[in-house]
Amino acid sequence: MCLAMKEEKKLAIRQIRQAGDEILRKKARPVEVFDEKLKELAEDMIETMHKNNGVGLAGQQVGILKRIVVIDIYDNKGPIVFINPVITKTKGEHEVEEGCLSFPNQFAVLKRPKEVEVEYYDLDGKKKKLKAKDLLAQAICHETEHLDGILFIDNMLPGTLEIVKPENN
Ligand code: NI
Repeated sequence: MCLAMKEEKKLAIRQIRQAGDEILRKKARPVEVFDEKLKELAEDMIETMHKNNGVGLAGQQVGILKRIVVIDIYDNKGPIVFINPVITKTKGEHEVEEGCLSFPNQFAVLKRPKEVEVEYYDLDGKKKKLKAKDLLAQAICHETEHLDGILFIDNMLPGTLEIVKPENN
């Protein structure tokens, strides 16, 4: 009998790239290989998002130019990993306040669709489709834009950028 050495899972909080970092302006490449490394990246991204109280994080924001997004709107359904997401339908429009982990303490108002349909792959390379509304739809829009180097400040309504003082300083 032989005991297989179980590899310890090492979760890592990754450093979030901040405004001005040029990787945020680059277009990410589609994921083609669905392997353990991708799963590890997704787990690290979820951990990093949670640690920073974010609702979403895109590959670029941790320095990885791959089309991967993690989102958690804290609705008890758990985080969702979107690989190669494409928004195929949008419906309605509303004005929403939005921020970004790469722009700490900054918020602005944007027009976002109320509902979206998104096609993506899960970590096993299985094709999925999701209908989302409100905050989840907003997060999907925000994060898929990141993958094309688009930031929320690009589409904010003029004069709505607000800089909030951090609480502990
Ligand atoms: Ni963002």
